[in-house]
Amino acid sequence: MTDFPQLPSSFLWGVSTAAFQIEGSTTADGRGPSVWDTFTAIPGVIRDGHTAEDACDHYRRWEEDVSLMAELGLTGYRFSIAWPRIQPYGKGEVNAKGLAFYDRLVDGLLARGIEPVPTLFHWDLPQALEDEGGWLQRDTAHRFGEYAAIVGDALGDRVTSWITLNEPFVHMAWGYALGVHAPGRLLLLDALPVAHHQLLGHGLAAAALRERGATQIMVSNNCTPVRPASDSAADRAAADAYDTLHNRLFNDPLLLGRYPDLSAYGTDLDGVVKDGDLALISAPLDALGVNYYNPTEIVAPAADLGLPFEESRIEGVPRTAFDWPVVPDGLRELLAGLRARYGDALPPLYITENGCSSADEVVGGRVHDPERIAYLDGHLRAIAAAIGEGADVRGYFAWTLLDNFEWAEGYHQRFGLVHVDHETQARTPKASFAWYRDLITAHRAP
Ligand code: FCB
Repeated sequence: MTDFPQLPSSFLWGVSTAAFQIEGSTTADGRGPSVWDTFTAIPGVIRDGHTAEDACDHYRRWEEDVSLMAELGLTGYRFSIAWPRIQPYGKGEVNAKGLAFYDRLVDGLLARGIEPVPTLFHWDLPQALEDEGGWLQRDTAHRFGEYAAIVGDALGDRVTSWITLNEPFVHMAWGYALGVHAPGRLLLLDALPVAHHQLLGHGLAAAALRERGATQIMVSNNCTPVRPASDSAADRAAADAYDTLHNRLFNDPLLLGRYPDLSAYGTDLDGVVKDGDLALISAPLDALGVNYYNPTEIVAPAADLGLPFEESRIEGVPRTAFDWPVVPDGLRELLAGLRARYGDALPPLYITENGCSSADEVVGGRVHDPERIAYLDGHLRAIAAAIGEGADVRGYFAWTLLDNFEWAEGYHQRFGLVHVDHETQARTPKASFAWYRDLITAHRAP
C-alpha cells in the first residue's frame, strides 16, 4: 500500500448493500409484498427464474455479516430499509417486528464502531402502493414522507446520516420506462412523472427526518459522465440530451431548485410540478451521494425511435462480467463535471456505490479476484486525484459486501467482497476483501 495516495484521515470507509438483494425472509415477521416480489414471480423476467426469497439470508445472518464488516475495519455501512417490513401495505399501521430488525442492526453496527447510513428507498415499493399507481402518483410521495417519519422516530436517536432515495433515474428508466426492473412498466417517456414524484418524496422525507434530528441527508444518484461518440454537432446534441435525462433531471432540482430544459423530450413536466414542490426538493442537502460504475458514450439516433440519443459501445477498455466498461478516470471526470456545473451549490460528496462483477469461484477455500482489486484500486486512485483537484469527497462505499441478488440478472453477477454460495449460504472473503481491509488499515492507522 506504500504507493497508494493518502486519503484524508477523516475519510469514511464503507460498503453498500440493499435490502431486497440480501435479506431473504420475504414473508417473515409480517413483511408485506413489494413490487420486486411480484415482478420476480413473473416467468421469464429474471435470468434463470431466480428469486430473492432467500437472497443472502442476511435477515437471519446479519450478525455474521456485521462481523465481516468489523473485520474489514469499516467506519460506515450503507444499507437499505425495506418499506414493506415497516408498513406492509405502504400506509397506516407500523409493523413493530419489521422495525425491530433494523433497530437490532443499528445497535449491532454501533457496538462495532460502524456508522449506520440507511437508505429509505432502494426500489422495493410496497405492492399495495403500486396497485394505486406507484410513483406515477403524487400521493406516493406523501406516503413516503410518512414512512420516513416512522423510521426517523424509531432510529433517529442513533442514526443521524440518512439517504432518502437510491438512484431515482434507474428506478424510473428501468422500472417504469423500459420494464426490465419492477414494477415492469413500459411507458417510455410517459414515465417522466416518476422522476418528480420520487424527488418530491425525497423533499417530504428529508423534512420529516430533519424534524427528528437528522444532521446529514443525502440522495444517492446514479451519475455517469456522458461523452459524445464524435465531435459532430448531432452527436454532441444527442449526448447533451442524454446527460439531461440521466444526470441533470435528478441533480438540478436538488441542487439548483429547477428542472433542466426538457424540450428534447417534448415536456416541461407541466401539470406534474406544483407550486412549492421545488422549494421542498431543493432544501439544502448536506451531501450528495454519487453512485458511479462507468461513463456513457452517446451517438445521434440512426432512426427515429422516439428518443433523441442512442448509446454506443466504449471500445478499447477492460470490461466487467456484466460487460460494463471499466474506466476509473471517468470518476475523476464525473467529479470535475459536477463541480463545473454546480459550483458553490455542490455539497460535499460521498461515493455511495462503486464496484464490479466478476466470475468468482471458490478454489481450495480461496477466491482469487484480481479484476475487482484492480477496479477498486483504480477508482480509489481516481478519487484521490479528484480530491487533489479540489473535489470534496468525504467517503467511499464499495458495492458490495456480499454476492447477492442482482435484480434482472438473478444471482449471475457477483459483485461482493465476500463470495456467497447460494446453495449453502457459506461466506468466503475474496482476495479483494483482504486488499480493502489492508487499505483501510493503512489509512486508519495513527
Ligand atoms: C446499482 C444499484 C445496486 C446494484 C448495482 C450493481 O445501479 O443501485 O442495487 O444493483 O447497481
